[in-house]
Amino acid sequence: MNWHARYLQQAAWTRDLRAYLFKKAGLDSAKCVLEVGCGTGAILRELETPASVLGLDLNPAALTQALVNAPAASLTHANGLAIPFPDYSFDIVYCHYYLLWVRDPLQAVLEMKRVTKPGGHILALAEPDYYARVDQPDALRPLGEWQRDALLGQGADPGFGAKLAQTFFTAGIKLEETGTIQGGVEEPSAWEREMEWAVIQADLGESVSGEEIQKMKTLDDEAWAKGERVLYVPTYFAWGVTPT
Ligand SMILES: C[S@@+](CC[C@H](N)C(=O)[O-])C[C@H]1O[C@@H](n2cnc3c(N)ncnc32)[C@H](O)[C@@H]1O
Repeated sequence: MNWHARYLQQAAWTRDLRAYLFKKAGLDSAKCVLEVGCGTGAILRELETPASVLGLDLNPAALTQALVNAPAASLTHANGLAIPFPDYSFDIVYCHYYLLWVRDPLQAVLEMKRVTKPGGHILALAEPDYYARVDQPDALRPLGEWQRDALLGQGADPGFGAKLAQTFFTAGIKLEETGTIQGGVEEPSAWEREMEWAVIQADLGESVSGEEIQKMKTLDDEAWAKGERVLYVPTYFAWGVTPT
């Protein structure tokens, strides 16, 4: 599985939202910006700012790719649950498809808040709620259940998106805006559908037989061909400001 290609696809889903929220957060005049859980640099590489840009991740292999993909960023191998920077270091701290993966998302958000300057901005740009995933026709509903189980098996919280705003609130961050990203209305390209299936296969591993997966893929292809397919995963964002 080429995870960087998947992260680039997810980056495309949030591009408009990021442009809007980064403008609101003052990216143009920021001095120091941090992405927590930056992975292979799919988001870092698109940041257009005069600020110093830093990325942090737990996975050294992902950071090696980020070095190439986002050469302007400074990268740190560290745990987002104990960010190795002093209090009040950054104007903007953000994450993208990150909090669902951390063992303690409230602690992760508290760390993001700690390193943000008073009155600075915290952005959680994309956190899905797979419990609310919509699959039509009904015969394709097992796909969502498989995916949820696979994420739980990998230690992720498939429903974290629905808890995002409450987590900001509990962390003492003033919520400026929250909601779900747009999506689910346009038919994905053949390439995007192949990517979806590559992710399903990578996530499921041996837990579902190849035969069952192939059966679902055939149903999925037929439904798209007939214009009957609906696939929607509500994916939440939150923008907040730290107390002054
Ligand atoms: C789905 S990837 C998203 C990467 C990137 N934000 C993007 O959207 O392209 C999630 C990333 O979070 C990182 N991660 C998970 N738990 C972490 C932690 N406790 N501290 C730092 N990074 C973490 C993973 O290593 C992975 O690179």
